[in-house]
Amino acid sequence: MRKKKHGAERIAACADLLIADPSVLLTDPQSPFGTARPLCLEIGCGKGAFACGTAAAQPDINLIAMERVADVACIALERAAAERELRPGDNLRFIIGNAQNLSEWFPEHCLDRIYLNFSDPWPKAGYAKRRLTHVGFLEQYRRALKTGGVLLFKTDNVALFDFSLEQFDAAGLEVLWQTRDLHNSPYGEGNIMTEYESNFTVKGFTINAAAVRFDKKAD
Ligand SMILES: C[S@@+](CC[C@H](N)C(=O)[O-])C[C@H]1O[C@@H](n2cnc3c(N)ncnc32)[C@H](O)[C@@H]1O
Repeated sequence: MRKKKHGAERIAACADLLIADPSVLLTDPQSPFGTARPLCLEIGCGKGAFACGTAAAQPDINLIAMERVADVACIALERAAAERELRPGDNLRFIIGNAQNLSEWFPEHCLDRIYLNFSDPWPKAGYAKRRLTHVGFLEQYRRALKTGGVLLFKTDNVALFDFSLEQFDAAGLEVLWQTRDLHNSPYGEGNIMTEYESNFTVKGFTINAAAVRFDKKAD
C-alpha cells in the first residue's frame, strides 16, 4: 500500500479508538473500555470491516483489533470512527502492532476469543514460522486465551488451511468444527464478512473455516 498522506495526523484524529501503548493491557486488559465484557482479539484486521461489523453486532463483547501496517490501520480507525453510532457500547479499540509481541501486551489467560481472518499465507516453506497459525503463534494464543478460549479462523487459501489443521493437531488443540465452504454450512450463520472474504467470494472461491478450543496443555 502506498504511504498515506498525513497518516500520522489521521491516526491521531482517531486517538480515542487507539491503544497507543498496548503494555497498559498487562495491568488491566479491560482498561481501554468503560465496561468490562468478554474480551476478544482480531489479529491482522486489515481495513476493519470485520472488526467494525463484529463490535456492532456483538455489544456484549469488547473487541481489540490489531494491525501491523499503520497505513492500513489508519483506514480501519477512520471506518470505526465513522461508524461510531453503530456501537452504543463503545466496545472497539485498535492496536497498531505485530502479533509477535502478544505476550508483551496481554496478560496470561485474559482473552475469550481470537479471530484470524485471511491471514497472510507465506507460501514459501522457509517462512512457515511467520504464518499466524504456526505452533509458535498457537502457543502464544494458548497463553493469552482463557482455558476453554476459542480461535476462529477463516481463509480462502487451501494450503494454509491444511497447514493450520496440522498445526492445531501438533499443538494438541480440539477442533470444534471445520468446513471447506463456510457460506454453505451451518457455521456460516451470522458470519460477518471481511474485505478479503467479500473479494474472494465474488470471484467464486469457497471459504475455509475452523473453530479451535484451547485447554491447558496436557503434560
Ligand atoms: C491478507 S490481509 C487480510 C485483512 C483482513 N483480515 C481481511 O480479511 O480482509 C492480512 C492482514 O494481516 C496483517 N498482518 C499480517 N501479519 C500480522 C501480524 N504478525 N501482526 C499483525 N497484523 C498482521 C497484514 O498487515 C494485513 O493487513
